[in-house]
Amino acid sequence: MNNQVENSRMFKRGSALGYLEDEDRFLTARADPEFSFGVIGCGMMGQEHIYNALLVGRAKIGGLYDPAAKSIDAATRLIARNGQQEAPRIYASLAQAVADPDTDALIIATPNYTHIDVVRTVVGSNKALFVEKPIATTVADAFEVCQLAAAHSQPVRFGLQYRYKSVYAEALTEVFERRSVGRVHSVNMLEHRFPFLDKVQQWNKFSAYTGGTLVEKCCHYFDLMNLFAGGNPRQVFAVGNQAVNFHNFVYDNKKADGLDQAQLSIQYDNGVIGGFSLCMFTPGTREELVVCGDAGRVHASESARLGEANENRLEVWRGENAASSVRAPEYPSYITKAGHHGSTFFEHLSFVDELSGGVVSGPNLADGLWSVAVGAAAQLSIERGAAVDVAEVLPAGFDPAHWVKTNFQED
Ligand SMILES: NC(=O)c1ccc[n+]([C@@H]2O[C@H](COP(=O)([O-])OP(=O)(O)OC[C@H]3O[C@@H](n4cnc5c(N)ncnc54)[C@H](O)[C@@H]3O)[C@@H](O)[C@H]2O)c1
Repeated sequence: MNNQVENSRMFKRGSALGYLEDEDRFLTARADPEFSFGVIGCGMMGQEHIYNALLVGRAKIGGLYDPAAKSIDAATRLIARNGQQEAPRIYASLAQAVADPDTDALIIATPNYTHIDVVRTVVGSNKALFVEKPIATTVADAFEVCQLAAAHSQPVRFGLQYRYKSVYAEALTEVFERRSVGRVHSVNMLEHRFPFLDKVQQWNKFSAYTGGTLVEKCCHYFDLMNLFAGGNPRQVFAVGNQAVNFHNFVYDNKKADGLDQAQLSIQYDNGVIGGFSLCMFTPGTREELVVCGDAGRVHASESARLGEANENRLEVWRGENAASSVRAPEYPSYITKAGHHGSTFFEHLSFVDELSGGVVSGPNLADGLWSVAVGAAAQLSIERGAAVDVAEVLPAGFDPAHWVKTNFQED
């Protein structure tokens, strides 16, 4: 952890001292990057990774691969604007990116349905891998991604970074370090937000490309719920539909089919119960996490009306057990603004720490798989109008005793 104000990125980023000679730089000196990343898929999320990798300052962007010229242009300009003088290589194919001997890791930020093929192609390489969420669009493919990752010679990381958002990171500290709620009995989450944004070739409007909204978007929330619940999800009942958004949206002669509202109940195998509410036609964004235990309640939220600033809030209610509190956990604004409320920055810090032989932290491979499994079970439950045993969507040969999620309960 970087705990020295002297090393703060605030000083290194400022341009006010741009006139200084290199020998006069101390607070503003930048270290040479230790790593070089190839970025596969340079759209919205690929660019967020580039920005954060450069902000963290321990990696340069060695190369880019994306068939869309505008994505490559935007990524190249972003790199130049953020202090990297050396232009990245532009690869003509994924094979070329894999063959580049000068990169240490590949960041895969392509559309969901492409992850499986990209991972199949890159696993032979001697490079660390970072695969965006959801790791695949089906549980079977997600399992294959996990198996390939487990056999890979270098670290593999999945993009489930919401656990690094300041409100959830603090909620994790309250629940698992301070034990503020005692034993956890229920976990409820809510995501109310605006519709899916435009994407390159609008892949996110079609379930065939996303895996369904509950896999695509909500794997983040299921990962958090799984983390706080501790046990494995056993049964899911969901209702939902395409209520408001994109009824008139046609692309390539296909009508948009993603659902935009849903409610879920989840039964965990350790008795914890979970609830989740999704609404994607809200004028603003609001996320909430409520964890109730036998000794207290933790309520974390992020909230912003359309076009307005976000407010973070964390309520810890401990009754007569200890002091209760309300606070607003925040990172420095230049970190918060770097994307997903600062969580992508901390995800990158933890990734480069692992690459340099430091602490291995962040989501494990099983976390990636279970987050997809809950989403797939929920999609199936909506189709059937009945509760679904999660075991039904898990692939043949899947052994839950082997694919163990992160469990802070046991620490
Ligand atoms: N972790 C998060 O919070 C978060 C947020 C948004 C998106 N995502 C994930 O990131 C991924 C990308 O989403 P996005 O929002 O950047 O989409 P996007 O459409 O903005 O960008 C995707 C890019 O990938 C390129 N591409 C498509 N197929 C490719 C291939 N085979 N090889 C290389 N490039 C290819 C496209 O041309 C495009 O430039 C998705 O899996 C999405 O779910 C994660």
